[in-house]
Amino acid sequence: MYTNILTAQNNGITRITINRPSKLNALNKDTIQELHAAFRVAELDTDTKVIIITGSGEKAFVAGADISEFAHFSVGEGGKLAAKGQELLFDFVANLTTPVIAAVNGFALGGGLELAMAAHFRIASDTAKMGLPEVSLGVIPGYGGTQRLPQLVGKGRAMEMIMTAGMIDAQQALQYGLVNHITTPEELLALAEKLGSKIMRNSSVAIGAAIKAINAGYEDGVNGYNVEIEQFGNCFGTEDFKEGTSAFLEKRKADFPGK
Ligand code: COA
Repeated sequence: MYTNILTAQNNGITRITINRPSKLNALNKDTIQELHAAFRVAELDTDTKVIIITGSGEKAFVAGADISEFAHFSVGEGGKLAAKGQELLFDFVANLTTPVIAAVNGFALGGGLELAMAAHFRIASDTAKMGLPEVSLGVIPGYGGTQRLPQLVGKGRAMEMIMTAGMIDAQQALQYGLVNHITTPEELLALAEKLGSKIMRNSSVAIGAAIKAINAGYEDGVNGYNVEIEQFGNCFGTEDFKEGTSAFLEKRKADFPGK
């Protein structure tokens, strides 16, 4: 069904793997379209409670947007490339109500790091390298990197990373708070799944509401506290809330219907 990605669904987790290892999983137009489709399918699938995004091979998560596709672009085409990419993939992923974990298995550069940053949180193998090298190509990050990197690591660190076009290793990414955990390459997916299983014990409806409230705090002109109040109130009308509170009072484990 897909040419550049692989998808697999198992035990409530959909894994999406970018699969162009000969190009270090660089994001060309087709791959972005396929990722959009796969994330959309996973979001609509009631059996998917968590999505893991990773790259195939040991070398790269994603080594960036496909430079060969945009090297000849005009000003107008450049703007459209960024706008379309943000709409189809980066904003799309950030605003999903199904939790997305990025398992960074190697180079996450440019659009690759931007994709990892669009995920709800990140873990990395100890071999991973991350950076936004766009200014070394005469361009800037265009898939949300100038916004999400400062949010995650702070303005000064983001300024340095973007201006130097340098890479940081997994240890430094951990210290910066860019990734939440690091592990060996062999253990990376198992750790992502373990975190996924922990998430899945909870109410998926409440998790979706929490994602909306958290994201609202980063949106221009939106009051995150007001969105929190609204989402909090909405939870009281869900079956998950009835089950979660009843289970607590009855001293049993909740079995959330996800509604
Ligand atoms: N776009 C298109 N092709 C890419 C790519 C990208 N962002 N990143 C890697 N590739 C391709 C290479 O062109 C090469 O293809 P080829 O074998 O047909 O020549 C293949 O992937 C392997 O990459 P290579 O550069 O030979 O691997 P390396 O181990 O020597 O270097 C990197 C690895 C990640 C340091 C290097 O590939 C790189 O700098 N990539 C670009 C990173 C970047 O600037 N990304 C931001 C884009 S906005």
